[in-house]
Amino acid sequence: MVHALIFDSGVGGLSVSAEIRKVSPGIQQSYVADDMFRPYGEKTDQQLRERLPGLLWTLCETLKPDLVVMACNTASTSALSEIRAELDIPVIGVVPAIKPAAALSRTRSFAVLGTPGTVRRQYVDQLIKDFAPDHSVILQGSTRLVALAEDKLAGRPVHMGALSEEIAPIFKDPDVDCVVLACTHFPLLIEELAAAAPPGINWVDSGEAIARRVQSVAREISVFRPRRTGPDLALLVGQNNDPVRARAFKDYGFERVVGLLDSSKTAINA
Ligand code: DGL
Repeated sequence: MVHALIFDSGVGGLSVSAEIRKVSPGIQQSYVADDMFRPYGEKTDQQLRERLPGLLWTLCETLKPDLVVMACNTASTSALSEIRAELDIPVIGVVPAIKPAAALSRTRSFAVLGTPGTVRRQYVDQLIKDFAPDHSVILQGSTRLVALAEDKLAGRPVHMGALSEEIAPIFKDPDVDCVVLACTHFPLLIEELAAAAPPGINWVDSGEAIARRVQSVAREISVFRPRRTGPDLALLVGQNNDPVRARAFKDYGFERVVGLLDSSKTAINA
């Protein structure tokens, strides 16, 4: 039984976790949401490189997973090699789905919708140069959409006016027929995004590709452990005391949800 640690700044990694459960239901999952430091998309490379390797090392020492899934485009595009250098188990990162979008777009015009951090990364420029050199590519960064996805999973209404404003610049180009969801929070808003966008847009994310990669890495790892080491656990670091949000993690298959709050509040055990 392989044990995977899924990591994100908040609920976004649940979009990846769900794909992994579909492809590999037998994998034990632990989830850590770094709520305390969100939004990652507003942080510098240096801030993420300073925080994440040590945090992931500590989590791996404690939870003892066999592999780590960095279910966050922002962290993957900035700090993946630093995290890998710190850990002695496989670390699977998220790559914005620019290659599939380039192949899918009939008009050769597509957009990359990510956090402000992700869309300004050189890593993304390089993917565009490598896989979409003849395409027109709009880069659209949004932190508000991250907050709206958090709202949705915390049971708060999604502000559709705000959501529409965030994606409007993309559709100033009427040729855009494909949008890369380059933030793991965004597939959680797919119904709302589709409702606010022109009809017929292809929304492309990396969830399924990551799940396949996890499946193949899990097969390569020899784990002689017949049983899971515990329940699927979600650890919410600095989580605001929100039982509805905890419920959402349960709905995604996390049997135990533990919020680690700041000292002014008490921990919740949902
Ligand atoms: N879910 C994360 C991503 O894929 C980022 C959200 C944030 O800005 O914290 O980029």
